[in-house]
Amino acid sequence: MQGDRGRSDLIRLKVLVTGGAGFIGSHVVDALLAAGHQVVVVDDLSTGYISNLDPRARFVHLDIRAPGLLEVFEQERPDMVNHHAAQMDVRRSVADPLFDADVNVRGSLNVLECARKTGVRKIIYISSGGAAYGEPVYLPCDEAHPINPLSPYGVSKHTVEHYLYLYKMLYGLEYAVLRYPNVYGPRQDPNGEAGVVAIFTGQMLAGKQATIYGSGEQERDFVYVSDCVRANLLAMQERAQGIYNIGSGQGTTINRIYARLSEIIGYERPPVYGPPKAGETFRIFLDASKARRELGWEPQVALEDGLRRTVDYFRRGNLAG
Ligand SMILES: NC(=O)c1ccc[n+]([C@@H]2O[C@H](COP(=O)([O-])OP(=O)(O)OC[C@H]3O[C@@H](n4cnc5c(N)ncnc54)[C@H](O)[C@@H]3O)[C@@H](O)[C@H]2O)c1
Repeated sequence: MQGDRGRSDLIRLKVLVTGGAGFIGSHVVDALLAAGHQVVVVDDLSTGYISNLDPRARFVHLDIRAPGLLEVFEQERPDMVNHHAAQMDVRRSVADPLFDADVNVRGSLNVLECARKTGVRKIIYISSGGAAYGEPVYLPCDEAHPINPLSPYGVSKHTVEHYLYLYKMLYGLEYAVLRYPNVYGPRQDPNGEAGVVAIFTGQMLAGKQATIYGSGEQERDFVYVSDCVRANLLAMQERAQGIYNIGSGQGTTINRIYARLSEIIGYERPPVYGPPKAGETFRIFLDASKARRELGWEPQVALEDGLRRTVDYFRRGNLAG
């Protein structure tokens, strides 16, 4: 097969990645290309950057809500869809829930409609464990934990999981859902609204004052981006069906992240504390034993190592996002 690099074990697929110019999506694109797959990216560049994209991926500058998306699917005929595009600003979702639902629910539904109309075999959908479970009843949260989102973003991201189940029942469209924890690493936007590691790193390297919203004792489950990317590739396997938490199973406080980054960077200012953000869970970490059991997924990058790699990336001058 053209371009399959002589690897006999390789099944070369065409994968359409939505949000492929974004932080996590662009790393998924890199890994798909490295594995010999063909990649088409659909992204409206609202928070993504063309500079994140490997030129070997075909890029279509389009909003996932656009009616023209069907034409792209008809022309490209992808075997699989990897759906990362989303409005992912929790505060914006609280301020403007209609916009949030429009992108995350209606946009995703447009993706699903295009997928089923053009015979896509499988969709990998990126959901949020941190936003869907709400304030945990028990920890770590497994996939059976009650869903009680504390923000419109949590509701909209979770809603699509129901449509996926329905599309499988109605049309036989296979799916795997990855419920991400707090993902961090190179290419995360230090000027964005989400991603405390990138934000602190950007501020500390620039010698600016970094602010912790709330007491800093809130806990999150931090996973390095390459570990999340590996979950995406494993989710392409036939046995990957249904919903999987991705997480380390451990909570880390924001104060600890601040302290570790300060030490790695050599930043000496203590944090300034601001008011807590609306719509955020206080303490959450995820049980990923199902992903371990069924997909063989485990995080491989320890927090300390991941923080150092992230700081190195931003130190090399990548502060514009
Ligand atoms: N970063 C995290 O910690 C985290 C945690 C849980 C879930 N997620 C999910 O992971 C996915 C990727 O997040 P990220 O951190 O890489 O953010 P990101 O903002 O870097 O990536 C989102 C990408 O989607 C694109 N996009 C947004 N709206 C679009 C639209 N209407 N049409 C086409 N493209 C659009 C953006 O331009 C961007 O490239 C999102 O679905 C997000 O909800 C991320």
